[in-house]
Amino acid sequence: MENLVEQIKKSAAHLRSKISAEYGYGVILGSGLGNLTSQMKVHQQIPYTDIPGFPVSTVEGHKGSLIFGEMGGKNIVCMNGRFHYYEGYSMHDVTFPIRVMKFLGVHTIMISNASGGMNAAFEVGDLMIITDHIYLQPEHPLRGKNYDELGPRFPNMNQPYDPEMVKRGLAIASANHITCHTGVYVGVQGPTFETPAEYRCFHLMGGDAVGMSTTPEVVVARHMDIKVFAISVITDVGYPFEKADNVSHAFVLEKAAEAEPKMTKIIVELLHQI
Ligand code: HPA
Repeated sequence: MENLVEQIKKSAAHLRSKISAEYGYGVILGSGLGNLTSQMKVHQQIPYTDIPGFPVSTVEGHKGSLIFGEMGGKNIVCMNGRFHYYEGYSMHDVTFPIRVMKFLGVHTIMISNASGGMNAAFEVGDLMIITDHIYLQPEHPLRGKNYDELGPRFPNMNQPYDPEMVKRGLAIASANHITCHTGVYVGVQGPTFETPAEYRCFHLMGGDAVGMSTTPEVVVARHMDIKVFAISVITDVGYPFEKADNVSHAFVLEKAAEAEPKMTKIIVELLHQI
């Protein structure tokens, strides 16, 4: 059995044989946010099923692709569709594409997600630039053998989200009259949405938004010293209870799609500026 580094190198070598440019920026698209790709000048689209080493779904027809192209004046590689722990993947599987991106030359990553608001100031459709997170998923992507060529055994998580990109993101939102907060993202397993007591608990522990992705990806990006910018679309409110939505997956997808152009605007402008 190949070790993790060999698997990453194999995937990266395969992708390199298909592409002819350098891609320094990664983008991960959250649920309902796929329309960002309509702003890309696409060079190449490669289904996950064609990439050796990428997780294979045993459960359902597996969609998603890596899209190589240009946006905001930069060459980007975009994950259109991500792997979630609740689907049954291991945390190594969930984060494998980020490892491969690093080996393709990605130094900066922009991560998006749909999430539930737990801050009284947040409304459905608002954006939140993530400034910190609380990792509450049940498995950690760095558990097990550490490969020193990937990163340190005990990574520092003192400043996981790049402060310069947070500042620029907020300024872009303000210049474009987009309501955009900053806050703490709580990463949970799912797939249930939270009970009222859970939303309140996460609020009390310091969370502003909760979702089922992102934190493992950020951990692995930081392990490999990739700079991170992350943004949540608030698709539903969970706390305070009086204004809580009766959330469903369809509701999340609908609200994410409505807010997607605002998020895309920020990401495109940010790519231009950095
Ligand atoms: N909770 C967890 N995950 C989510 C939510 C939520 O309220 N909304 C979108 N993803």
